[in-house]
Amino acid sequence: MGRCDGKVALVTGGASGIGAASARMLAAQGAQVMIADRDTANGKAVAAEIGSNAAFVALDVASQDSWDAAVAATITAFGGWNVLVNCAGILRHGSIESETMDDWRQTMEVNVKGTWRGCKLAVAHMKAGGGSIVNLSSIAGIEGGADLCAYSTSKGAVRLLTKSVALYCAERGWQVRCNSVNPGIIETPMLETYFAERDDPQAEREAWDRVMPLGIRGEPEDIGHMIVYLACDESRLVTGAEMVVDGGAMAR
Ligand SMILES: NC(=O)c1ccc[n+]([C@@H]2O[C@H](COP(=O)([O-])OP(=O)(O)OC[C@H]3O[C@@H](n4cnc5c(N)ncnc54)[C@H](O)[C@@H]3O)[C@@H](O)[C@H]2O)c1
Repeated sequence: MGRCDGKVALVTGGASGIGAASARMLAAQGAQVMIADRDTANGKAVAAEIGSNAAFVALDVASQDSWDAAVAATITAFGGWNVLVNCAGILRHGSIESETMDDWRQTMEVNVKGTWRGCKLAVAHMKAGGGSIVNLSSIAGIEGGADLCAYSTSKGAVRLLTKSVALYCAERGWQVRCNSVNPGIIETPMLETYFAERDDPQAEREAWDRVMPLGIRGEPEDIGHMIVYLACDESRLVTGAEMVVDGGAMAR
């Protein structure tokens, strides 16, 4: 018996990194998983690797039409929908001085509005039968980053969007839980790109290696374990929480 038997999960950003790991881990625990991403090639590959419990749908979280189609495809493929994992996200480094309005808009469109769109559709569908929404925030949404102005702002917004959705549903007696996961530094393509774009990638890498007191590099599966927990009924009393998985960084 799997911990996620009976769950149908739509995982945005499921083609890469944390989203791909959590899609694999949810399926391994018995969930049926729709991998939704704008990266069609990698998204299809992850779905094929998982097998008959998974499918892929193209999704741009910045588009409402695309969201509507992805949700419809999930319900058609698996006969229901009760878990949403909002993993799709972008990271552009930039300070209040260097950042352009275009950088800011893109970050908010994907990280904040994309997550908001997903939450809105999930609540509308799940309020009748219950469900779990997991939003990817970050430790950068808890403490500011001087060179992560739009990103930090977007992840702080996701953190509080999560609490608002959680309370709204709980106060109405709907069994729709909504939690954020706040990862520390996790080895994914997003992180590789971040380092590659820096003036001195090696120095930046070394500085970031000192952020997490435990001194181990985080892997996507470290976050996947938390996502599986929040998706399944073991976490039935957990809503509006920010689940920090950061090797102790926020304990300082
Ligand atoms: N890696 C980290 O250290 C870290 C730390 C804290 C939070 N996070 C958050 O975790 C989430 C996953 O990050 P990751 O590190 O796995 O990144 P990643 O770059 O490996 O994966 C992100 C995925 O999102 C998809 N995506 C981007 N924009 C999209 C859009 N408009 N529509 C649909 N899909 C889109 C990409 O195609 C990609 O598959 C993100 O929200 C990120 O901000 C990551």
